[in-house]
Amino acid sequence: MNLAVIGTGYVGLVSGTCFADSGNNVTCVDIDQQKVEQLKDGQIPIYEPGLETIFARSQREDRLHFTTDITEAVPEADIVFLCLPTPPGGDGQADLSAVMQVASELGPLIDDYTVVVNKSTVPVGTGDRVEELIADKVDRALFDVVSNPEFLKEGAAVEDFKYPERVVIGTDSDEAAEIMTTLYEPFVRSGNPIITMDRRSAELTKYAANAMLATKITFMNEMANICEKVGANVDNIRRGIGTDSRIGKRFLFAGIGYGGSCFPKDVEAIHHTAGQYGYDFKIVDSVMQVNDAQKVSIVKKMEDYYETDDFSGKTFGMWGLSFKPETDDIREAPALYIAEELVKRGATLLAYDPEAIGTFKQATSPQVLEATTFVHNQQEALDNVDALVICTEWNEFRRPTVDNFADEMKTPVIFDGRNLYDLNRAEKAGITYISVGRPAINVDKKKAVGENKE
Ligand SMILES: NC(=O)c1ccc[n+]([C@@H]2O[C@H](COP(=O)([O-])OP(=O)(O)OC[C@H]3O[C@@H](n4cnc5c(N)ncnc54)[C@H](O)[C@@H]3O)[C@@H](O)[C@H]2O)c1
Repeated sequence: MNLAVIGTGYVGLVSGTCFADSGNNVTCVDIDQQKVEQLKDGQIPIYEPGLETIFARSQREDRLHFTTDITEAVPEADIVFLCLPTPPGGDGQADLSAVMQVASELGPLIDDYTVVVNKSTVPVGTGDRVEELIADKVDRALFDVVSNPEFLKEGAAVEDFKYPERVVIGTDSDEAAEIMTTLYEPFVRSGNPIITMDRRSAELTKYAANAMLATKITFMNEMANICEKVGANVDNIRRGIGTDSRIGKRFLFAGIGYGGSCFPKDVEAIHHTAGQYGYDFKIVDSVMQVNDAQKVSIVKKMEDYYETDDFSGKTFGMWGLSFKPETDDIREAPALYIAEELVKRGATLLAYDPEAIGTFKQATSPQVLEATTFVHNQQEALDNVDALVICTEWNEFRRPTVDNFADEMKTPVIFDGRNLYDLNRAEKAGITYISVGRPAINVDKKKAVGENKE
């Protein structure tokens, strides 16, 4: 099939490349001229494991093209994918300007039956609005608008796209459903379902998935906060409940909150949509509040530990800047907020991330930039620091083990927002180790973080 993919970011580039890899002829469109030039040149502007190989192959075999000109891509396309940004607009609602802008350009470019697919995460009813805009300029019989929400995870996007647990297709048109099913069949050969439904339900399914996952994470983070109060260990709670198949093992790890380009904005957007329909979606409101507090909870622990909110003269190592491992995406990353709070309190930072230093530098404030030295490896970030703060659970941070830390640091103190280390080993190594929802190790009982009963 001939595909046009409009918007060549994380979703557009991964989808376009994977569709090209399964034999389709794909033209990706983006308004970002520099990005398009880079891509034409064979350079990938994002970090995603596995993308490079299939990108190079598809480009070599002439199935993957890039352009800034939508008129080069849409007229030939059997299917047009909208993979456009839908960032938070004012008061939490999704900003649909890019989607609407492109939708208004499509009509005159359609002269043969075309399926227009919305892959962006959009509020219920957006498909109807896109359909209206296109129908203003072309006969309704010549196109269908389908909702096909994307569930890939950054950091495992290629794997998720090639082997999706399910594909959701929202349309009432049999013709569009058949074309979409044909397109996706190569990706579900192991038997995972292609689920067809009405368009509004498909739009809402994406929000339901993200709101549910954000709630699950947040529930465990609150449980961790309670563990700290009562002297329990959230790891044990996780093992104790995760074996219940009704609950499941995944997304039960406590930490310093979720971030990224999807959960925060989608939770906010579903809350906003509910409000527009006169419904107060209380659970997601709490999820947002708890997550905001959780992101900087580690700073509060540091204040408790040092018994001051003045960190002048202290240098902290910082491991991990991206919002999660295996990505350079720092959107809504806890590290952004934590760095800001630490610098506000007078600290200087030695920061390291395997992939996200560049994106972090672009997003953080001049104050943080001024107070931070970015280093080339995890070891350098330990050099003579007062403590290490761990914000992202990159695999390489799991080793060297805690036993090796003490020699490098001025004082062997770790504030771990991702619970990477074994408590017994930290204790034996004589390291002060303060993590999330687990007993603080080698901390003077008087100032043991979280162990103070109120
Ligand atoms: N990133 C994820 O993990 C993920 C997962 C599932 C769904 N989504 C959803 O998919 C959508 C896209 O997300 P993303 O992370 O790929 O965004 P992104 O910001 O990485 O990419 C969007 C791209 O669209 C381009 N663009 C903007 N306006 C344009 C226009 N008028 N014409 C052509 N190109 C234009 C931008 O230059 C950018 O390259 C969002 O709705 C998001 O919520 C994202």
